[in-house]
Amino acid sequence: MAQRNNSKSNPEGRRSFVKNAALFTGSALFIPSALAARVHLDGDDSIKVALVGCGGRGTGAAAQALSTAQNVKLVAMADAFRDRIDSSLKYLLSGDAGSGEVDISSRIDVQEEHKFTGFDAYKKAIALADVVILTTPPGFRPIHFEEAVRQGKHIFMEKPVATDAPGVRRVLAAAEEAKRKKLNVVVGLQRHYEAKYMKWVEMIHAGAIGDILSGRVYWNSEGVWVKKRADLERDAGRQLTEMEYQMRNWYYFNWLCGDHICEQHIHNLDVANWVKNGHPVKAQGMGGRQVRIGPDYGEIFDHHFVEFKYEDGSRIYSQCRHQPGTVVAVTEGFQGSNGSAPRPGHLLSRGGSEIYKHNGSGDPNPYQVEHDMLFEAVAKGDFRFADAENGAIATMTAIMGRMATYSGKEVDWNTALNSELNLQPEAYTWDTLPKVLPGEDGLYPCAIPGVTQAW
Ligand SMILES: NC(=O)c1ccc[n+]([C@@H]2O[C@H](COP(=O)([O-])OP(=O)(O)OC[C@H]3O[C@@H](n4cnc5c(N)ncnc54)[C@H](O)[C@@H]3O)[C@@H](O)[C@H]2O)c1
Repeated sequence: MAQRNNSKSNPEGRRSFVKNAALFTGSALFIPSALAARVHLDGDDSIKVALVGCGGRGTGAAAQALSTAQNVKLVAMADAFRDRIDSSLKYLLSGDAGSGEVDISSRIDVQEEHKFTGFDAYKKAIALADVVILTTPPGFRPIHFEEAVRQGKHIFMEKPVATDAPGVRRVLAAAEEAKRKKLNVVVGLQRHYEAKYMKWVEMIHAGAIGDILSGRVYWNSEGVWVKKRADLERDAGRQLTEMEYQMRNWYYFNWLCGDHICEQHIHNLDVANWVKNGHPVKAQGMGGRQVRIGPDYGEIFDHHFVEFKYEDGSRIYSQCRHQPGTVVAVTEGFQGSNGSAPRPGHLLSRGGSEIYKHNGSGDPNPYQVEHDMLFEAVAKGDFRFADAENGAIATMTAIMGRMATYSGKEVDWNTALNSELNLQPEAYTWDTLPKVLPGEDGLYPCAIPGVTQAW
């Protein structure tokens, strides 16, 4: 049975535009574009790249950009902290970065005056580039994306694309402007560029297992890094301002990270939306912090469970956990009316016989594919990628899940998306106090279900 189109109402509404956004994501548009005027430094016609956010992922993304078949050059780097620029550049020049097929060090030309630090660094780096890589913590993504679009640049930006609903709305508005300007935008929800997922979802959409009735999506793990204040202050040889500390230990503060339901689990929630061809209309759930408690762990939960209801009444059950010693499971699966999709790349008939099984060994690395496709489009002057709307909707889905677990109440999509709860500080300076501060015991306040107003 062919999968029913689950967009039942209001074809002009947000759901239909989300559907269109999903169609753009990771797929080829092939609209020739008058390419945004390229930056020519000293007559050099290479595609200039600026890296904004020179940490782990940004350094990896820069290596992938420099490993494509196009004539690419890294010309500018921006980070809040100078040491992150230095360590990123050192690694990129070391010979260890990249696929090994291209000598990426020969494609790096970052002059001292093109290394920018501080909160305004992004503006100066973006100005020097044709393509910008936006890989700071996600709290800054809305302002960085807006600026890159304003300056008419092609963009690779990591997920999530915001940490609160006002940020999501800024990204949605800038995404429209990017399309109008025919700027290619790729978002690092790399499953859209991964062969195993692409064919699997295509077959589900073609009706291989019927209507999708339910699903389960997990990011259950033992947790991530933590930067302890005492260690940071010992290394710095001085006390840090609260802003510096939160910026260094960003994972544990919602204005920067969005909680791990947003920062990591977004990948699985995005797959659910992709399979369902839309976003949830309601969410309710539970969560808390049980083992990761203490002054080093900011305000985020260590587990969330959310039931997301979609417009056709189907439900997706979502789990994410950061607790050492527990089961690790990062996966998605769906039940159809005529079969099942037990895991990515695998489809079974209702009787349990195999319809499709993808052996992913030898598949190209999706992190590299994202950049190969983006830079090919830029080199040819094509407009092929408009991932920002889908990235914003996936981000909003995760934020809606956080609203549900923090409040312990049911929240609907429009309420969540229109929320005015702005997590960002009043100003971005090293002396500004972020909105969430530690108590006298050093502990940060954490959401209390039933009490916390989460939207
Ligand atoms: N797609 C994936 O699989 C994947 C994997 C890892 C990380 N990510 C995403 O990449 C982003 C970065 O994660 P990471 O692991 O590289 O973190 P990181 O801490 O290693 O790097 C972030 C960098 O941004 C810098 N930064 C912070 N605020 C800044 C600002 N206002 N201006 C300029 N620089 C600023 C930090 O100093 C740091 O160097 C996150 O959004 C994360 O979710 C995606």
